[in-house]
Amino acid sequence: MANDYEGFKKNVYALTSIDLNSYKERQMKRRIDTLIAKNKYPGYDEYIAAIKKDKALFEEFVNYLTINVSEFYRNPEQWKILESDVFPELVKKYGSGVRIWSAACSTGDEPYSLAMLLSKFMPLNKIKIIATDIDEQVLDKARMGLYRGQSLNALPDEFKTKYFTKVGDNSFQIKDEVKKCVEFKKHNLLKDPYPTRLNLIVCRNVVIYFTEEAKDGIYRKFYDSLVPGGTLFVGSTEQIVNYRDLGFTSSRSFFYKKNE
Ligand SMILES: C[S@@+](CC[C@H](N)C(=O)[O-])C[C@H]1O[C@@H](n2cnc3c(N)ncnc32)[C@H](O)[C@@H]1O
Repeated sequence: MANDYEGFKKNVYALTSIDLNSYKERQMKRRIDTLIAKNKYPGYDEYIAAIKKDKALFEEFVNYLTINVSEFYRNPEQWKILESDVFPELVKKYGSGVRIWSAACSTGDEPYSLAMLLSKFMPLNKIKIIATDIDEQVLDKARMGLYRGQSLNALPDEFKTKYFTKVGDNSFQIKDEVKKCVEFKKHNLLKDPYPTRLNLIVCRNVVIYFTEEAKDGIYRKFYDSLVPGGTLFVGSTEQIVNYRDLGFTSSRSFFYKKNE
């Protein structure tokens, strides 16, 4: 790609607050180059000029950059551990005061899955989950709560039946009683202050895109945000190698507990 990627990164930061220096460079640059080529711009400067003027192009860019695939109950075997071990302990200890954060929640599939599963342990109207993402567009979709059937494939049937209304051939509207459990907010994991006093942080399938340094910074901030004994639940390709150095223990894959 002609002209300067360093300058492009600065422009992107000014426009979106997304710091591309913290994302794995080879992977991200390849994605961006492909998108620019698809839109037939000769280089970064021309593309930046275009996204400054064209809202649809800008939104396409942010959407593409943030890679927001998600689904309900992604990796169901790990949700079984939440159900059998993590939630019973949390509810026993904190009751309805339990504080849960779904960080980088994308279109809401993850925090809504958390609310539905938690409803097996406490009344829905007591559940409060904080859910954040850097991308306003996915947050709007999450607030709307309308999903294609494919997103629900891994979700247990009992939740599908209880908490969705079928709309048309292949769309499902999540019920308001579940929507009310989740508060969606814009939040940049690389920049904004983190919520505190948390008992469970769910952050899955986003740190894979970050550099080692950025990832390490995020894990340290998660540690600070958790209460002693609090749990961090990560994605299935995101095991934390140095979890002991960070102050966590781990008796199950993908779950890390802050030392008491
Ligand atoms: C692949 S999705 C993961 C969604 C969900 N956690 C899951 O596992 O299904 C990654 C999400 O991370 C978000 N993201 C990327 N960079 C971020 C950042 N710096 N701060 C917060 N969210 C970010 C994207 O907008 C996207 O919605």
